[in-house]
Amino acid sequence: MSQAPVITIDGPSGTGKGTIARKLADFLGWHFLDSGALYRIVAVGAQEKEILLNDIKGLRRFSEAMKVAFSQDFEDSISLNGKEISSQVRLEETAEKASLVAAIPEIRSALLKKQLIFRQNPGLVADGRDMGTVVFPDAELKFYLTASPEERAQRRYKQLINKGVNVNLRALLKDIASRDERDTNRKVSPLRPADDAVVIDTTSLTIEQVLNRVLAEVKTTFPVTT
Ligand code: DC
Repeated sequence: MSQAPVITIDGPSGTGKGTIARKLADFLGWHFLDSGALYRIVAVGAQEKEILLNDIKGLRRFSEAMKVAFSQDFEDSISLNGKEISSQVRLEETAEKASLVAAIPEIRSALLKKQLIFRQNPGLVADGRDMGTVVFPDAELKFYLTASPEERAQRRYKQLINKGVNVNLRALLKDIASRDERDTNRKVSPLRPADDAVVIDTTSLTIEQVLNRVLAEVKTTFPVTT
């Protein structure tokens, strides 16, 4: 039996890829995988269980055993072993810890198995850093979204301010640059576009313009579904 089709959307944070991936999954009626959330969940869980980020065995055991549930019924709910943790998952400090966790090969392989389970009919839109290169290398269609670090920091700044979180733009830019550096230069599954990815620079594009570009490609690759 053939496997469910997959569309991958990779790139650094602040490129709008999460928003685009969700909208695309809704449009197609496909499943959605927010792979970054899995790394964030490990970071939150490690903190709750007091597992140090250099305790690789402990982190691995936790990553393999954790029971995660995503629900889009009410806002975006994420539960870890039955407990709602979405607000902790979205914190900037969690993103920082997730980037450290994501550089550990043992954690990447523990989470790989969990990610593959999301590939179910009628299809999957997968958002992350290595969706097109490592997790779903045979995806039917791959995107890689980029934007200048300044524009990405600006977008994140607006998002956080709108949520009532007090942040400093310059500090945000510095954090984004250091996470980019770690995600791009790590030995396992570094952030990079797949050779066959459609690369879109979103710096001066609105979400709607990016979505239109993405949909045009999707319609060519999947003429029947759309
Ligand atoms: O997309 P995000 O901000 O939720 O990702 C959190 C961290 O996890 C980020 O530093 C990169 C890492 N990550 C990864 O290494 N591989 C993925 N497929 C998704 C995220």
